[in-house]
Amino acid sequence: MPDSPDRIFLFDTTLRDGEQSPGATMSLSEKIRMAQQLELLGVDIIEAGFAASSAGDFECVSTVAREIGNSSVASLCRTVIADIDKAAEALRHARKPRLHVFIATSALHMDYKLKLSPEEVLKATDTSVRHAVSCVRDVEFSCEDASRTDLDFMVEVCRTAIAAGAKTLNIPDTVGYAQPEEFAARIAYLKARIPGDIIISVHCHNDLGLAVANTLAAFRAGARQAEVTIGGIGERAGNCALEELVMNLTVRKAYYHLEHGISTQQIFPSMRTLSRIIGRPIPVNKPVVGANAFAHEAGIHQAGVLANPSTYEIMTPESIGLPGNNIVVGKHSGKNAIKSKLEGMGYHLESAQIDLILSAVKDLADKKKDIFDEDLEALVLEEIYRLPDKYKLLHLAVQSADSGIPPCAMLVLEIDGVKREHAQFGVGPIDAVFRGISVAVRHSPKLEQYAVNAITGGTDALGEVTVRISEQDKTAIGRGSHPDIINASARAYINALNRLVKMQEEK
Ligand code: KIV
Ligand code: ZN
Repeated sequence: MPDSPDRIFLFDTTLRDGEQSPGATMSLSEKIRMAQQLELLGVDIIEAGFAASSAGDFECVSTVAREIGNSSVASLCRTVIADIDKAAEALRHARKPRLHVFIATSALHMDYKLKLSPEEVLKATDTSVRHAVSCVRDVEFSCEDASRTDLDFMVEVCRTAIAAGAKTLNIPDTVGYAQPEEFAARIAYLKARIPGDIIISVHCHNDLGLAVANTLAAFRAGARQAEVTIGGIGERAGNCALEELVMNLTVRKAYYHLEHGISTQQIFPSMRTLSRIIGRPIPVNKPVVGANAFAHEAGIHQAGVLANPSTYEIMTPESIGLPGNNIVVGKHSGKNAIKSKLEGMGYHLESAQIDLILSAVKDLADKKKDIFDEDLEALVLEEIYRLPDKYKLLHLAVQSADSGIPPCAMLVLEIDGVKREHAQFGVGPIDAVFRGISVAVRHSPKLEQYAVNAITGGTDALGEVTVRISEQDKTAIGRGSHPDIINASARAYINALNRLVKMQEEK
């Protein structure tokens, strides 16, 4: 890593803390796709999971470690030797591995959660960090609930971690309780009491909406690493949003005097990739990436922007990679054109996968005149990055309500490789489709959310449907895209069912 004092490092935890956001579970292939996009974006460190927490997390950390070359890859671990060994094993093939060891240090957490005395926490810090450093050179240590920890005890724990070999100290505002000036004072207090070559990191939660403000205040006080997620997803109200933090540093560079390694043009593609993967639309009023961020409704604003965009725009849509309506491929595009277009978008696919996309593009081009970047991306996620399916939709025909006959869905599904036909009436066509699928697969989850979104403009736009379903204590999100909204709905419902059964099997 460059060691200029004015360079800050971005530690992305979308795949770990972000995945703890309710309903944001990702499959292994989706996490790999997200990690590749994060690397393209230029994050310095990717926290790929908590290797010891489950077989799925272990597999994810080890696969991301193998696939990613430029960014460091980190695994979270408790101050437990077995956790550290598991994480080190998962990171065996990483070109730049990092172990991220944490223990809670506030009196509240030590007394009620850990049931450990301060001396025992110091001992656990020393023993575990020493062990971690013997496995992997790059070790980060976190004091969980640091913002509610006695200041001098926090410094003592941090010094213990440094003496044991940690090179980065992370100060989390675990419950989003800190206020900017107070948090900055905590960082300055620590910085004055540790060697200058140790990097102070911060990890701010957004419970009071201050995660970005607290992180920026910490930078002003000397922190040089921030833990962030795309779109600010994460536990409860989420984490510090990468795009907001980076655009503050970029737009107000003269104020902060800090460099970062992010390619800002990859911000919007990263947000879009995450949104597609977790099946959550980008809120329209979200800073930087929301649909309204560059929309000017009021006449007086429009006149100003036309005369000179800086009247009301402090950054350009291009600077965050917001796409124009560029037609990318069509019916007559060959394999090479699709391959190079996909590579430009960050998808490095194998030859057989490009063939699949090529054939999907040709199918789509029969139904839709213009195919945009967003359409192509939706096809890739649909064809390449979906889960190995237990349930598949083979055919669907829907009869709308007609002279007293209720709407009816006729479905052909494949269930564990066996073909199954079913017909079902419903209150409306979507109801008939969902009921029909539920009966055929013998699951009747509660439908909690159903959302339709046109990926691009025009009546021939590819429709994207997102559904959220729950059964017992599990919730799953599914996504489907197709020019026919009813077909997209069926795909989204089946995708959610596939995720739900996978979660139930993993229980
Ligand atoms: O919020 C938190 O304290 C964390 C730590 C494990 C870094 O996520
Ligand atoms: Zn956290």
